[in-house]
This record gives sequence, structure tokens and C-alpha cells, in this order.
Amino acid sequence: MPTIDFTIFPSTRYQGSKRKILPWLYQAFKELRFNTVLDACGGSASVSYLLKKMNKQVTFNDKLHFNYLIGKALIENNRYKLTEEDITNLFNNNPQLNYRSIISEMFQGIYYLDEENQWLDTVCNNIVNMNHYRNNVLQYKRSLSFYALFQASLVKRPFNLFHRANLDIRTNDVDRNFGNKTTWETPFPDHFMKFAHEANSLIFKSRHNCISTNLSVFDVDPYGLDLVYFDLPYIRKDGNNESSNYLKCYHFLEGLSKYNQWPDLIDFNTANLRLQAVREQNDFTKQNMLQQVEGLFYKFRHSKIVFSYKVGGIPSIPFIVKTMKKFKKHVYTKSLHYTYALNHQNGDAKKNREVIIIGK
Ligand SMILES: C[S@@+](CC[C@H](N)C(=O)[O-])C[C@H]1O[C@@H](n2cnc3c(N)ncnc32)[C@H](O)[C@@H]1O
Repeated sequence: MPTIDFTIFPSTRYQGSKRKILPWLYQAFKELRFNTVLDACGGSASVSYLLKKMNKQVTFNDKLHFNYLIGKALIENNRYKLTEEDITNLFNNNPQLNYRSIISEMFQGIYYLDEENQWLDTVCNNIVNMNHYRNNVLQYKRSLSFYALFQASLVKRPFNLFHRANLDIRTNDVDRNFGNKTTWETPFPDHFMKFAHEANSLIFKSRHNCISTNLSVFDVDPYGLDLVYFDLPYIRKDGNNESSNYLKCYHFLEGLSKYNQWPDLIDFNTANLRLQAVREQNDFTKQNMLQQVEGLFYKFRHSKIVFSYKVGGIPSIPFIVKTMKKFKKHVYTKSLHYTYALNHQNGDAKKNREVIIIGK
């Protein structure tokens, strides 16, 4: 097994990302024999990137289109990078193009300042109209450009989310003990450049072809997979589960990724202009979680399973173990107790118990 340098991995502010616990996951994956692997709910692609580094034949999958593009940029893409010329072209107005201003017109005062909205519009138009490459190259150049755009958009948001229209948190001149004013106020092009260069440094060719898909995990073909890794949205036993609806938290990135169709997808009855699909698209809720988990174990019963979860959720860890035992001869768990900083400024920290349930 190659030695893995965990400092050269995609950085991310994505909610629930496994980025920080990859070395621990690596130890667990190393003990298992497999080649073809599905990262069923791949999110920021951290885990797929680890599996690609392990030279596995990875299928990255996520139901959200913007995540799928991240999978294309970092996992499926073996060689294409953004050149300095590509980046300059993305930032500049091309006099031959007819620019749309979807974000400036619709999202004024909601997430970003006016000039930032204009910049986002320019870059989106330029990505959509990037056409001086052949299709097989273009798809990766576009995904890389979107990747840098998503990351830049995330770091400039309070809480790194889009669940509220709360630009005022950034603009109010008050003492705050959270967030990172410097990052918010760093101009978009600076963030974009940093993430584009970071993405370039992450592209490599592994021993197998890897792919990115954009399906609900319930629609994925379950055959031919030695192992399936699940990292479903976390459903807390107590309290509200607003943040487990990823489309609700990240609808703005999903909109960026479908720029030209965006106006037709918006729910104009919501204050922060979410997508209409937020109402329909939540496959994991407190009410259905037990059946959904059992359904997935049944569907992928021919593969080894690694299931990530946290203590204190629905289903409980004992329930997951019991259910997995219906389909697998050998089921065991590993857990990791780690402390993460909630707030860098006041040093507040929280304990978290990550568990993986492994069935083979
Ligand atoms: C906890 S996050 C995964 C985090 C990921 N392991 C990482 O390290 O970034 C859960 C992911 O499940 C995705 N998701 C939600 N419902 C899904 C479904 N029905 N099929 C596939 N993916 C889904 C969400 O879009 C989200 O990216």
C-alpha cells in the first residue's frame, strides 16, 4: 500500500466532511480486501480522494449536481488542470458574449455584496461559455472552475451555509465572537485563485479509471462493487434536523452549477430563494431513517459495507449493527473520540464520537 501524505488533500468547509478523520478511516479501509468501491454519498469527495490515493477503482456519487462536479474535477479527472490563461479568461468580460446577470438580479442583499454578485455572474457566464477545448477536456476544465467557485463561495459565507439570508452578519459593524471577517472580506478572485491552484495540485492519475455519478443512492446499480462506503446525512435524535437537508443548506451552489436553468428552479415563495426541489428532495428524515438504512443494506447486500455514523443519532449504532447482521456474516465497529474546534476565536470545543460499522 502506498504511503499517503494527508497534508495534500482537498481542503473543505463542507458540513459533515470526513476530511479531518481520513487517517483513521484509512486504517480501517486498509484492513479490507477490495478493488471496486462506491462512495455512495460522496459530498466534498474527501473519502473518494483517499480511496483514489489507495489506487482503488472509485465511483464517486452524490445526489447533488454541484457535488458531482467536485467528483468530476478531483476523482474522475486524471490529468487536466486550469492554466493561468484559463483563470484570466474566467475573470474577464468577453466583448463577444451576451452576459446574463441572474445572481445580481435575483440575490441582491441576500448572500453577497452587489459587486460580488456581479463577479459571480461574470465567472458563471464564462464557465458556461468556455468553448475553446474539445468536449472531453472541456468537461474537466468546467468542473475545476466550478470547484474553485464553490469553495470560494463557501468560505465567504457566515457558517459556510446558505440556509439563511444573512448577509447582514457580515456587514453589521458589531463585535462578534464567531466567524472569520478576514476570510469573508478577502475578494472572490483571491479565493478562487487559491482554490484553483489547490485543485491543480491534487490532480493525479491512479492505477484505475475512476468516475463521478449524480444519482440518488437508491438508483445506483448495486452490482460489481466490492465495497460500498456510506456517509449518509446525520439525523440527530434530539433537536431539529434542518442541516441534514443538504439541498437546503447548499441550494446556492446547486444553482451556480446549473446557472442557465437556475431562474426556472427557484422557489420564489422563500425569503432566501431556495430551489423548489428542497421541498421534495430529502431522502433521509427522522421518520423514514430506519427503513432507508435497512433498504440500503439489502440493496448492497452483495458488497462489503463500511457505514460511517455518529453516536446520538437515528438510527442508533446498536440498531445499525443489528440490521447489518441480517445481511452480513461478520459485523464489527470501530470508534474514534475526537475533539474539534467549534470556534477558532474563543477556543470553544466539542466532543464527537465517530463510528464506523463494517460488514463483510
Ligand atoms: C454527510 S455528507 C457526506 C460527506 C462526505 N463523506 C465528505 O467527506 O465530504 C452526506 C451527503 O449525502 C448526499 N445525499 C443526500 N441524499 C442522498 C441520496 N439520496 N443519494 C446520494 N447522495 C445523497 C448529500 O448531498 C451530502 O453530500
